Amino acid sequence: MPESGIGYERLVQRPTPSWLSSAIFYEIYPQSFRDSNGDGIGDLPGVIEKLDYIRSLGCNAIWLNPCFASPFGDAGYDISDFYKVAARYGTNADLKWLFREAHKRGIKVCLDLVAGHTSTQHPWFQASARPEKNKYTNWYIWTDNGWKGPGGNLTGIKGVYERDGAFVTNFFAFQPALNYGFANPDPAQPWQLPVNHPDVQAVRREMMKIMEFWLEMGADGFRVDMAASLVKGDTDYKETMAFWREVRAVYDRDHPEAVLIAEWSDPALAIKAGFHIDFLIHFNSTAYTTLLRNERKRDIFRVRTTAEYGHSFFDRSGQGNIAEFLDVYLVHYKATRELGYISVPSGNHDLGRLATDRSTHELEVAFAFLMTLPGIPYIYMGDEIGMRQIDLPSKEGGFGRTGARTPMQWDSGKNAGFSSATAKKLYLPIDPAKNRPTVARQERDKKSLLNHVRRLAALRVKTPALCAGGAFEPVYATAKKYPFVYRRSLDGEEILVAVNPSRQAVKVSFDATNLGDDIECVMGRGAQLRVAKGRAHLEMKGISYGIFRVLRTAVWGKP
Ligand code: NOJ
Ligand code: CA
Repeated sequence: MPESGIGYERLVQRPTPSWLSSAIFYEIYPQSFRDSNGDGIGDLPGVIEKLDYIRSLGCNAIWLNPCFASPFGDAGYDISDFYKVAARYGTNADLKWLFREAHKRGIKVCLDLVAGHTSTQHPWFQASARPEKNKYTNWYIWTDNGWKGPGGNLTGIKGVYERDGAFVTNFFAFQPALNYGFANPDPAQPWQLPVNHPDVQAVRREMMKIMEFWLEMGADGFRVDMAASLVKGDTDYKETMAFWREVRAVYDRDHPEAVLIAEWSDPALAIKAGFHIDFLIHFNSTAYTTLLRNERKRDIFRVRTTAEYGHSFFDRSGQGNIAEFLDVYLVHYKATRELGYISVPSGNHDLGRLATDRSTHELEVAFAFLMTLPGIPYIYMGDEIGMRQIDLPSKEGGFGRTGARTPMQWDSGKNAGFSSATAKKLYLPIDPAKNRPTVARQERDKKSLLNHVRRLAALRVKTPALCAGGAFEPVYATAKKYPFVYRRSLDGEEILVAVNPSRQAVKVSFDATNLGDDIECVMGRGAQLRVAKGRAHLEMKGISYGIFRVLRTAVWGKP
């Protein structure tokens, strides 16, 4: 990549993996995707069975949630052996087989790296929790006194193990934080190790070794869980970023086609830290929530106060505000456009389903947007058919997230084609609704959401301006107004996208000097764009969108 000239000159960038420029990811929550052996839990051979389906969507990359040995207190984000596939999903040989089969079809496979913590059942932690000093004593963060918590914003657990100290957790109580050191260790608290402590360095080397192990086997990269959480007391993330930059240097040198994807939700920082991609999701800003998830009175972890929720921009009430998304997005976009990619996903295993309270048409408009943004689209499994949020008791630490993790609905057969097990044995129940969406039904219907998503994906991949690196520029974006119109462009190719998620019809005009009337609608519903005398006139029905190819280069102006 060229040097950016936007303040990151000191960050020496190498070419990002070439395949990223046209990548569309599919996120698979393996326990719920496809059960091949009838035990009620999805597995790796099940993923292999469905690779052709994934390819048919237009996706050329997979992010697989953790598939490693684990007691599954947090759905596998509590790992007890980083080098071993969980028996319920298959074997290491099955994962290797998945890499092979995916690669045959032009699909990359990225794993989930839980870099910051393990399960308390991990042998490293079990050793660390012992009172006598051993190799793993410092691999986790322990205070030096069983009565003393870690203080600050760290959470400590006391009194569970024989070791005289409290250990720091990252998420749930059984997810102890690996020791990446403290950015500014307090001399009065000698248990806070510096980042260059040999044991801290050993943990870091081990994490690299884990990545190497799977990359050598055929993995194409990692989505890194809680990537910002590693070094403690690192208020400006300087030390955490320094670690990831070291990792990136190894990628650039030894695995230049492998990708590092952050769960950070601060692309300006994460990309600067060396990640190729960061998700702009519900942490650190309200950008994502106000775009797609603002109606929820309950977010994944708690009930929100009325001041905290309102209307998404993608909401038929037409009471959303694109500026709340765009103001944040543009800051990140400008800071990262030469260096890496932002992803605004359709959803994920931690978020409420996109389809909640949305009709198929509304979902079509949302997908038209998601598939025409710069960066990397991610489709969370099942969102492409509009799978719904199901009200369920917690499973494997899912709590409010559980309802977005139900089994994939393949067809009208037993258990919606997910599994041949008895209903009682299923990992989670299937959406009980009679009219639940299924892949099979939507495959037969040209107008289905599934086929719509396929057409959008195909259009994206064959249109360089719409791909990851095409420029992005708002053309009509007014606070609390609809529609939202933006331009994507690359090497003289110009695409204009207009979305109106509101149920109100809208009519806007904006300057289109030089445009002529050479405009072609390549995909859309309910949107008409006309150009006359240097003005563009856009008429949109309620819940509509249009993707237009500009046949003669335009100089777009402000409305
Ligand atoms: C983020 C993951 O997406 C989530 O599912 C998990 O519970 C936490 N990190 C803890 O690892
Ligand atoms: Ca199974």
